[in-house]
Amino acid sequence: MRAAIAACELDPKLSVAIVSKVYPMRSHTVSAEGGAAAVTRADDSFEHHINDTITGSDWLADQDAVELFVKEAPAEMTQLEHWGCPWSREASGKIAVRPFGGMKIERTWFAADKTGFHMLHALFQTTLKYDRLVRYDEWFATKLLVEEGRCQGLTAIELRTGQVRLIAAPAVILCTGGAGRIFPFTTNAAIKTGDGMALAYRAGVPLKDIEFVQYHPTGLPGTGILITEAARGEGGILVNKHGHRYLQDYNLGKPLDVHDPNHPQKRTMELGPRDKLSQCFVKEMEKGNTIETPYGHVVHLDVRHLGEKKIDKKIPFVRELAKNYAGIDPVYEPIPVRPVIHYMMGGVHTDTLNAATPLPGLYAAGECACVSINGANRLGSNSLTELLVFGARAGQASGQFARDHAQLHLPALEAMARDEQERIARDFIRKEGGTERVSTIRTELNKTMEEGAGIYRTETSLKETCAVIARLRERYPNVRLDDRSLSFNTDLTAAIELGYLLDVAEALAQSALARTESRGSHQRTDYPKRDDVKFLKHSMAYRTDGVPRIEYLDVTITKWPPGERKYGN
Ligand code: FUM
Repeated sequence: MRAAIAACELDPKLSVAIVSKVYPMRSHTVSAEGGAAAVTRADDSFEHHINDTITGSDWLADQDAVELFVKEAPAEMTQLEHWGCPWSREASGKIAVRPFGGMKIERTWFAADKTGFHMLHALFQTTLKYDRLVRYDEWFATKLLVEEGRCQGLTAIELRTGQVRLIAAPAVILCTGGAGRIFPFTTNAAIKTGDGMALAYRAGVPLKDIEFVQYHPTGLPGTGILITEAARGEGGILVNKHGHRYLQDYNLGKPLDVHDPNHPQKRTMELGPRDKLSQCFVKEMEKGNTIETPYGHVVHLDVRHLGEKKIDKKIPFVRELAKNYAGIDPVYEPIPVRPVIHYMMGGVHTDTLNAATPLPGLYAAGECACVSINGANRLGSNSLTELLVFGARAGQASGQFARDHAQLHLPALEAMARDEQERIARDFIRKEGGTERVSTIRTELNKTMEEGAGIYRTETSLKETCAVIARLRERYPNVRLDDRSLSFNTDLTAAIELGYLLDVAEALAQSALARTESRGSHQRTDYPKRDDVKFLKHSMAYRTDGVPRIEYLDVTITKWPPGERKYGN
């Protein structure tokens, strides 16, 4: 929606469409909780934000992209306020900010702990002012159309009728989010199946750094629902089964007074970066210090010392979620939590300035893209701001491209759309004799991803995962639909989504196998050190008829040479 607004603002003659497989307010951004980062306090600076982001990324972020992002972030956040986003404020009227993991200074703007919900509302209501902005809600994208060497639109199933429709367009922006659903335990909604990543990958665009997957340290056991980092930002602590604040044992700093109102834990302990906190959980589990539950091992997130008034003011959603989904009231009891798949640092390869992919006419922004500002580990609250900054840039650049390339090859596009309708009918709706269940293949995929490509990885585990994915890909064409109807056929969309999941999973596992080092969220126990000589590089996974081809691209280092990641006090 940010991209669409930017395109509308660029030129009153442009006609803009938003195509979404769900109603826009059900886009997964709605469930983002803790906040969005941008420099605002007098004691903060662009330099600090850049430094925190690059250090957090374990030096895999492109520094020109980070610099641009950090400098444009405050204006984007203020713009959102003018569009109606109700940022929480201090008593003085100034924007309130909270500390988040890996930050030296508080810079996370928030709207209580329902930030994504409010951001999405502000964007949605702003889109409504443009008559030229047409929405195709509940249209499911199936293919990018490439003609004369450039992207000229896409095909999508209109879910209400089941018809494959052609959307011809001189420029297309992918904003489809991540692919957390390749794993079994995730904060990601069921819609996050890597559609845009797979569509670009099939059109020849590489997936960059796709092996880097973020575990958020605090998911609710059973459901995977996120308990926001804001709970720790406001002063919550993590304890093991002995009630010990175990993070002090892992070079993340020493505990300070939890009652200090000035949030002394900046960049230390519970406010260390997510990759490290999730790795500490595994180590605690190996030491036998975690708590066994029917939903796996957990530790406790304790916010009781904050008191009911502060909990209800600053993190009311945490209380609501813990009560409804864990049956405990955090005012009186600690919350059971465990690491949960949350975010993909990698995605569709784009350039820095324009969010442009190597395929002319195709752009990408947000989690589905890899620009890259997140490198090997994203800092919490950078992603909501990222989608504003690079969404706006994608909208402007694609609008300009559309003006310059208005001519489309319609007969060829119409023929491609007819072929796509026929393919979907042949491979799914009309197909007889398939024996494989979509859910069985998806469950086996989830299992192998968790076992082989989780928080810690090895050559053996990754090779096994790659082999399982290869076998699942062979079985996939044999899937059977029970529902052959046309209208809102979720059996069909789940089958197509499974194809997207398999593509992204294969690129991820193969890229992880090839990266024989440990960096950020990619931890190889057989290669425990970061190797800047060989791997200060982005992986670029290209789709082939066989296994993906992995190439490498230098990371852009401008002013901040690689160093040691140090956290603590
Ligand atoms: O914990 C959270 O609220 C998540 C924020 C993020 O992923 O940026």
